[in-house]
Amino acid sequence: MIEFSKKLQQLPQQFFAALVNKVNEALVEGRDVINLGQGNPDQPTPAHIVEALQIAANDPQTHKYSPFRGIAELKQAAADFYKREYNVDIDPATEVAVLGGTKIGLVELPLGLLNPGDYMLLPDPGYPDYLSGVALADVKFDTMPLQEENHFLPDYEALSADIKQRAKLMYLNYPNNPTGGVATHEFFEQTVQFAKENNIAVAHDFAYGAIGFDGERPPSFLQAPGAKEVGIELYTLSKSYNMAGWRIGFAVGNAKMIEAINIIQDHLFCSQFPAIQHAAAVALNEEQACVQELRALYERRRNVLVEEAHKIGWEITAPKGSFFAWLPVPAPYTSELFADYLLERADIAVAAGNGFGEYGEGYIRVGLLVGEERLREAIQRVAKLGLFAETVLK
Ligand SMILES: Cc1ncc(COP(=O)(O)O)c(C=O)c1O
Repeated sequence: MIEFSKKLQQLPQQFFAALVNKVNEALVEGRDVINLGQGNPDQPTPAHIVEALQIAANDPQTHKYSPFRGIAELKQAAADFYKREYNVDIDPATEVAVLGGTKIGLVELPLGLLNPGDYMLLPDPGYPDYLSGVALADVKFDTMPLQEENHFLPDYEALSADIKQRAKLMYLNYPNNPTGGVATHEFFEQTVQFAKENNIAVAHDFAYGAIGFDGERPPSFLQAPGAKEVGIELYTLSKSYNMAGWRIGFAVGNAKMIEAINIIQDHLFCSQFPAIQHAAAVALNEEQACVQELRALYERRRNVLVEEAHKIGWEITAPKGSFFAWLPVPAPYTSELFADYLLERADIAVAAGNGFGEYGEGYIRVGLLVGEERLREAIQRVAKLGLFAETVLK
């Protein structure tokens, strides 16, 4: 008889697996679903990066085992990128860990830094995969509510003395998935102070770092003075360069935290296919015009969504970054009921906010990952449901 281990059984259920199933069922029925539920970039990887992979894949040198901790070229490119883009100094030898996607680093960190029963601090709402690391490392967690009145930033002063005292590691993520909130330099400065006062290691998930709107550039956590003493930042190529399927990213910052990740990876992986690492280095080193075009594309989509929603009387707030919009659910629906209703009655798939945590209740998350026409059509379909008619008449 084969049984799963206790650890496997305690892994969290994938909340969004149910959504994927429902969408697939609707597609099989031949329904024209506008899928705004997932976070998968819809644009192709820029051609110069694909070409760099093609050339490197033809080189037999890339077919061998490569250095366990990643190729020097990519680590140097990550350091140069941080210097050029954020004026942050990074030592490529000790302050960079190459990751097969940043999700891996986020799951590895609690294993590398915490002991069973230790506490983490996680944002609520937050990226659900943070909980995978919690379960694998047998640690516990407290949450930091992200609320609209506080621009979706945690309020450190509101955390109890107990929570502050027991937390050993905290995760932050700006521009934020799912709320679209963006951090400020002042907030990151406060974070460094908070981390120092309470002896907490910080991991800033900068997955949407390139995607800030209205001319505002999202700050890097490492720009805050002293940040490297307390934390790291995780940067993925999945979003900025539409490379989600390539599985490549990196962490930079505090050498001890980077070493913890690297030690775990020495035991789990032999790094990524070197041709992918080379192409990632090309992405970071070359002209960043493709990133600016992508950012502008998401901003146009955001504007269409917000304008169209306002036209039908749906009072939504424009996200400041990321490629998500966080929309309030009309009364009397809960997040899940409203998401189900949109799929059933309007063939629109969205992610229910409560899947991201308790403080996600009352919202749905919409991905800006379809073209402007489809976004317009989605709002027109919502309009036909008549939910916001009263507001329009006012
Ligand atoms: C907030 C956040 N962090 C991390 C990731 C993981 O990115 P990857 O593993 O592709 O680098 C995602 C992907 O959706 C995300 O939304």
